[in-house]
Amino acid sequence: MRSPQAFFSRRSLLKGAGASLLALGARPALAATPDAGFTTLRARKASAQLLPEAEPATEVWAYEGMVPGPILRVPQGKSVKALLRNELDQDTSIHWHGIRIDNAMDGVVGLTQNGVKPGEDFAYEFTAPDAGTYWYHPHNRSWEQVARGLYGVLIVEESDPPQVERDIALVVDDWRLNEAGAIDEASMGSLHDRAHAGRLGNVLTLNGADIWEQPVRSGERIRLRLISTANARIMRLRLEEHNPWLIALDGQPVTPSPLAGGEIRLAPGQRADLMIDMELDPGSSAAISEVSAQGRLVAGHFLYHESEVVRSQPLDAPIALPAGKLPERTDTQGALEVPLLMEGGAMGGLTGAVYKGELLGIQELARNHGMAWAFNGIAGRTPEPLFEVEKGRPVVLRMVNETSWPHGIHIHGHHAQVFAPGEATPWRDTHLLDPQEEVAVAFVADNPGKWMIHCHMLEHQAAGMGTWFHVKG
Ligand code: C2O
Ligand code: CU
Repeated sequence: MRSPQAFFSRRSLLKGAGASLLALGARPALAATPDAGFTTLRARKASAQLLPEAEPATEVWAYEGMVPGPILRVPQGKSVKALLRNELDQDTSIHWHGIRIDNAMDGVVGLTQNGVKPGEDFAYEFTAPDAGTYWYHPHNRSWEQVARGLYGVLIVEESDPPQVERDIALVVDDWRLNEAGAIDEASMGSLHDRAHAGRLGNVLTLNGADIWEQPVRSGERIRLRLISTANARIMRLRLEEHNPWLIALDGQPVTPSPLAGGEIRLAPGQRADLMIDMELDPGSSAAISEVSAQGRLVAGHFLYHESEVVRSQPLDAPIALPAGKLPERTDTQGALEVPLLMEGGAMGGLTGAVYKGELLGIQELARNHGMAWAFNGIAGRTPEPLFEVEKGRPVVLRMVNETSWPHGIHIHGHHAQVFAPGEATPWRDTHLLDPQEEVAVAFVADNPGKWMIHCHMLEHQAAGMGTWFHVKG
């Protein structure tokens, strides 16, 4: 097997030189507008060229057979209508990650809906209240279904977006493939991955391509919507030779700030919107690389047109997004305080936890149930919520990572901001905690229903790091 720790090394590092500007697949965008009816998303088996052309294609599971799946675009405040058709051999669903959605449409099998059985359909219809960059993926055996390629991008458009020449969604993923170029099934769901970092891949793709190539012209301004759909790897993407500005995180606008070193760190599920002025000379090429593993892996290029120049001075127009709907600061007066203690994993010293109402030792948890982690001493989702809160009440969730591993904690149905009194911190739906880190986040529980809180390292979620809360209303 290829080592999951280091990326596949046979790939060419500078394929960009001399590449044609023609083969640069623009992905089709499907409009999900109210009067266009439902967009069909068939979850099915397909073949994708994840490796370089000379290597075999990979059998994947994908929406409409595409990796990533179709890009859905909808104007802010309008409804998204998507018809999921399950052409797989196991149950599935669609979760609309980051959308402050109607609970019935949240897609969590066993909590907000039943699994959609093979051969069956499910119609998702909901309003997207916030503009920004979101994504969709199954919420049933997501550690397997996302790893096999089931995910797509949902863009909710501002009515008055900043002016750009190109608006590009860029999905980063890592895959664990075997020597034959197939999804490595032998290690799927392995206890080792579940108790360590999760399933790390050995092949990196941008928009499903081994090397992603984007034609540009000197002087263009580009909005780049980065989305990490990795099961477990914390990506560090570097936009080389440019000076990108960060304008949104997890869909929500932030005060624009320059990206130090052109680098952004994305936990699984997180997004970042960047503004980039293409300041190099005609004919140049610049790399997009991933630097989380040892060394620098070139994953794509901006390829400048030989002669065309759009403007010679950077565009003199604001890059900030229109303000979002969430306030600058959460009013935490009267907040419900909730501790969330994260324990377990390899080198974690967890001795036992409650599983399905029974206190079990760590050996039994791991061997008999595949559990390796606990929230507040409990492994896995329980029939009772972690907490209940009346609609409209603020919540301060005090997360403490007592493990030796990082975790990206995702809250459904709400965005939360790091609780720092007096400061306006970014609103995120997924917060990354490094080992031994403590982070308190605050939000107003204004969306009634049953909402998950879980680690988005999908093997961790499957191995115990998943709970839920109830907003009564
Ligand atoms: Cu992106 Cu509960 O998931
Ligand atoms: Cu985790």
